[in-house]
Amino acid sequence: MKLSINDLLYQFSYALDCVEHDLLGTTTHHGQRVACMSVEMGAALGYEKQELLDLAACAVLHDNALTEYIQEEWRRGFDVTENADLISLGSHCTLGERNLKQMPFCGDVSGSVLYHHENADGTGPFGKTTDETPMNAQIIHLADQVDAKWDLSYISEEKYQKLIHFLESETDRQFSKECVDLFIKSLPKKLLFSFGREKALVILQEKLPLVEKEYNDTEIKGISDVMANIIDYKSKFTRKHSLGIAQKAEKMGEFYGYSKEDITKLYFAGALHDVGKLVVDRDILEKADKLTDDEYRHIQNHAYYSYDILRRVKGLEEVTKWASWHHEKLDGSGYPFGKTAEELNEPERLMCCLDIYQALTEDRPYKAGMTHLKSMEILRDMAQKGMLDAKIVEDIHTVFQEDRANESEIR
Ligand SMILES: [Fe+2]
Ligand SMILES: [Fe+2]
Ligand SMILES: [Fe+2]
Ligand SMILES: [Fe+2]
Repeated sequence: MKLSINDLLYQFSYALDCVEHDLLGTTTHHGQRVACMSVEMGAALGYEKQELLDLAACAVLHDNALTEYIQEEWRRGFDVTENADLISLGSHCTLGERNLKQMPFCGDVSGSVLYHHENADGTGPFGKTTDETPMNAQIIHLADQVDAKWDLSYISEEKYQKLIHFLESETDRQFSKECVDLFIKSLPKKLLFSFGREKALVILQEKLPLVEKEYNDTEIKGISDVMANIIDYKSKFTRKHSLGIAQKAEKMGEFYGYSKEDITKLYFAGALHDVGKLVVDRDILEKADKLTDDEYRHIQNHAYYSYDILRRVKGLEEVTKWASWHHEKLDGSGYPFGKTAEELNEPERLMCCLDIYQALTEDRPYKAGMTHLKSMEILRDMAQKGMLDAKIVEDIHTVFQEDRANESEIR
């Protein structure tokens, strides 16, 4: 499957920035600025184009495990959005590095995310000093801390002077001298002053080589799984939802005899279908009380956000529709576009059925998943009312009845 890795990176960075903003209150476009600063520093070091692309990807994804880490800590009774000790902080680095093992980088990026909170004097989560920390990690660490502390979405002369003073006072403490010098050399005042909200992205786009590449099934699945993990951990209610749909979509594709490429696309679409949820506030996603009309509409917008994120990635034209039309119904009662039967093809209809089937059958913290047969009753009822494709509903029964046969149907 051929796609633009640049587009994908920019869209992932947008989605991840929304998460960081929502969960930690970081200023918007934080990841884009971190990536932009990192790339400027890498370029000044003479990085090759592919190395720059890898560095940008690591910078965008440096906190990819944030949702997983926060949810896991909550489960243990700790709120790391308020306070995090060193050991706990290190766990998002470990999880993030593990996740990225599945991503198809151009070269070796090991340690880039694992050590992005290490301090030059060895006081970081893993006690690594400058000599033991890869350059990528040092660069990302400095860029991350600078933006987190100084919010470079807006910069004044006074702020700039304070920033330089901060860097000097943290030399050989948080940051190595080499890295501080590199920052000052590669990010002159003029460039930093142009870091308005969207501009970091524009600078990043100009600096990075364009890479449109053919990715094999394993690579696409790797990208899908990393994103599905981030999306599913956004809410404590949906930890396996996206991955579950990806796997089921793949099975259905095999059942229908789709080409290998289309099966991979189905997997991708399943994994990314709810990527727009990253834009929706977690408080609303997890609200225990009844949602107001406005809140309900806000949640419904996630399907539009999925569409808007995916449509910007060259190579994902079909996947965009398969993924983000998963709430469209044949009778036009769905959202966000109110598509009708004539406008919805088989993969789009399938994704809608699978989303419902998955949601009904998966366990949630507050309820056990429904049995296959009980879920089928609901799907068949919806098909009878003209909302779902009756044939696809029966195909889902055929394919998954065996899978679920071992599970207790008495539940
Ligand atoms: Fe981090
Ligand atoms: Fe960050
Ligand atoms: Fe959805
Ligand atoms: Fe969903």
